[in-house]
Amino acid sequence: MFHYENEQLLCEQTGLDEIARATGTPCYVYSSAAILGAYRAYHTALSGIPHVICYAVKANSTLAVLALLAKEGCGFDIVSGGELYRVLKAGGDPARVVFSGVGKTSEEIEFALRSGICNFNCESEGELAEIDAVAGRLGVTARFSLRVNPDVDAVTHPYISTGLRDHKFGIDIADAPAVYGRARAFTNLRASGVSCHIGSQILDYAPILEAAGKVLDLIERLRAEGHGIDHVDLGGGLGIAYQEADNAPGIGEFIAALRGRLEGAGLTVMVEPGRSIVGNAGVLLTKVLYRKQSPAKEFVIVDAAMNDLIRPALYKAHHEILPLRREAGLEIVADVVGPVCETGDFLARDRSLTAPRQGDFLAIASAGAYGFVQASNYNSRPRPAEVLVEGGEWRVVRKRETPEDLINGETL
Ligand code: LLP
Repeated sequence: MFHYENEQLLCEQTGLDEIARATGTPCYVYSSAAILGAYRAYHTALSGIPHVICYAVKANSTLAVLALLAKEGCGFDIVSGGELYRVLKAGGDPARVVFSGVGKTSEEIEFALRSGICNFNCESEGELAEIDAVAGRLGVTARFSLRVNPDVDAVTHPYISTGLRDHKFGIDIADAPAVYGRARAFTNLRASGVSCHIGSQILDYAPILEAAGKVLDLIERLRAEGHGIDHVDLGGGLGIAYQEADNAPGIGEFIAALRGRLEGAGLTVMVEPGRSIVGNAGVLLTKVLYRKQSPAKEFVIVDAAMNDLIRPALYKAHHEILPLRREAGLEIVADVVGPVCETGDFLARDRSLTAPRQGDFLAIASAGAYGFVQASNYNSRPRPAEVLVEGGEWRVVRKRETPEDLINGETL
């Protein structure tokens, strides 16, 4: 959805230059067509199999993005009461919400039960006991899945790999039958599924297939033992291409590879994609403030920083950097850095790019997932504005923060 026409970078039919000038920078811009296209790719690929696509809210929780998906009938995977609040505000259907995460508080559990969410993905026996207690107090039955840890290596960045035995996530798959067995004693709980999520930005989906196989074997055993398992939740994790060299499988191809094992299983299939829905649907617009040559290096100093997009600093993630206006010029190799006072504040290192001039706008690509949601006010920098594009139209869906926002809630 981001492409050049007459050397100008467009999002759908809207020139990004127009948005940068009108809203100022830094500014996140999302393509509604790209978001809906990715959602529909999951939906189409799963047709014929009962399914719920639970978009992982953590990837991008902006209300307008959630509302776009809610209108399509999308479900949501949440990891906090705050995310549930957002989903409800955006018009999401609580009956299509699953609640994941290792540390749900009793307040969050109560909020989720009162809202009528579909299912809890539980990660410890302590949590089962807590949900049982809260459900008992409210006089309701809570549906749960155990998130099992299948001990499969997702082959991704170690910070976002979650399915190995020494990770904090899930319950060892070998222990799961016994835990489901003991959970029968909780009278306010009903075991309804099994869930699994082995990591994120997974480019080779073979490990997801392996994990799915182990989970389906477990479900067969649980059913034989009399548990009424009606769904399998395969988590998220499908990677996207951040650069040409990334061999990212298509959504259709990925689901097609899973289909054989899911068809005829008599289960509702849930998936929790985040990045593959919004990642390549967003860019971060920034302006070149200065250029600077040190004895060792050339720097392009821009007005976006690690507080706006932390992925390069935190994971050494690669994001392409595109000029909003493509022109012939000198090719340079430079570090693209922000104004934050840390050496770790870089958006790209040793990057070849056409030398930009002061005041030029650049787009940092593939910033739709884990971009704004991980932004902070570090260095007392207001968080950026966000814009949603629909064809030739666009609107600000979150105002840029102001200095007053920065001190909101503080007292002297
Ligand atoms: N389900 C669960 C239980 C998860 O923990 C996650 C992501 C997802 C679904 C969605 O995964 P996805 O489809 O987006 O890969 N901040 C990191 C990514 C952290 C992912 C955490 N869990 C980054 O910027 O790369």
